[in-house]
Amino acid sequence: MDERKIIFSGIQPSGEMTIGNYLGAMRNWVKLQEEYNAYYCIVDMHAITVPKEPAYLRKKSIELLATYLACGIDPEINTLFIQSHVSAHAELAWVLSCMAYMGELNRMTQFKDKSKKNETSISSGLFTYPVLMAADILLYQTDLVPVGDDQKQHLELARDIASRFNNKYSETFKVPDPYIPKVGARIMSLQEPGSKMSKSDENENSYILMLDKPDVIKRKIKRAVTDSLGTVKYSDEQLGIKNLMTIYSSFSGENIESIEQKYEGSGYGQFKNDLTEVIVEGLRPIREKFDNLMKNKDYLENIYMLGANKAEAVARKTLRKVYKKVGFIPRKFK
Ligand code: AMP
Ligand code: TRP
Repeated sequence: MDERKIIFSGIQPSGEMTIGNYLGAMRNWVKLQEEYNAYYCIVDMHAITVPKEPAYLRKKSIELLATYLACGIDPEINTLFIQSHVSAHAELAWVLSCMAYMGELNRMTQFKDKSKKNETSISSGLFTYPVLMAADILLYQTDLVPVGDDQKQHLELARDIASRFNNKYSETFKVPDPYIPKVGARIMSLQEPGSKMSKSDENENSYILMLDKPDVIKRKIKRAVTDSLGTVKYSDEQLGIKNLMTIYSSFSGENIESIEQKYEGSGYGQFKNDLTEVIVEGLRPIREKFDNLMKNKDYLENIYMLGANKAEAVARKTLRKVYKKVGFIPRKFK
């Protein structure tokens, strides 16, 4: 029997991945993979909560799988799969949606933000999205969910739903804990350092993509907002610089104090040059690996095929228990 604790996490194939996705999520997945039994999912069903072109969604789903692998996620020891391949996710989401309250979904800040942006045609899927996320996690009896800071609220909801179900029907789900990195949990916009770096930002200078070329990275860092104080200091008075230092520290592994010391008295120019170098070198191996993987579609196909088989077996087991507990008559086969 596999005694390792279980990890589940997922990312939507809804655009290009930023260094926020990398530092806040994916990079930690790599760190955790040796120690845990991990499921890393491409949550394509979440992606259609906001309209998507079918061809675009297909392309982004494969690219996301290649990105997972390019970051160093090992398909031999993890389960990598596509959410829509395991129908138990949709099925459990239905049962859980009958246990989640309108009031608690109404409080979700991501829904409030996303529905504000798109006021005319908000799908009910966007509203119930956190319930599908709870189903993702609970199907695998997950111990730990490594995500960025913005997913904390969704995870709280998953915990509440799990406990509610367990109390009502007897112990069924493990109640999962979040795993949020100390540094890098919230990478901010390079243009408005008061808000999160996001791939859906209209201003492309506000984010760095994992696959950005060195000259693009250089340009974006050059244009990144700073301040007139001129000192490389980690302080809430200097949100732009603070964010750049977080990025520096996350990529280089150097701690904040030593970065402050290194740039004492040297102004922003040198710091920005070095930062560009640190990011370019950090992303280079990922980009190279990604390009190679994208040339080998058969290999990628094989990974998501095996992943779905493995995930399905585990997910079905939980779903069968749930169906039985809520009073559905088990289907008979001749
Ligand atoms: P999303 O891009 O919203 O699908 O997010 C995928 C994962 O990346 C989630 O775990 C997020 O918490 C994480 N993430 C997204 N943007 C950032 C950011 N700016 N800083 C840190 N983590 C992030
Ligand atoms: N909601 C997450 C996001 O937008 C993606 C996600 C879906 C997820 N299901 C999940 C993350 C399960 C962790 C676990 O980033």
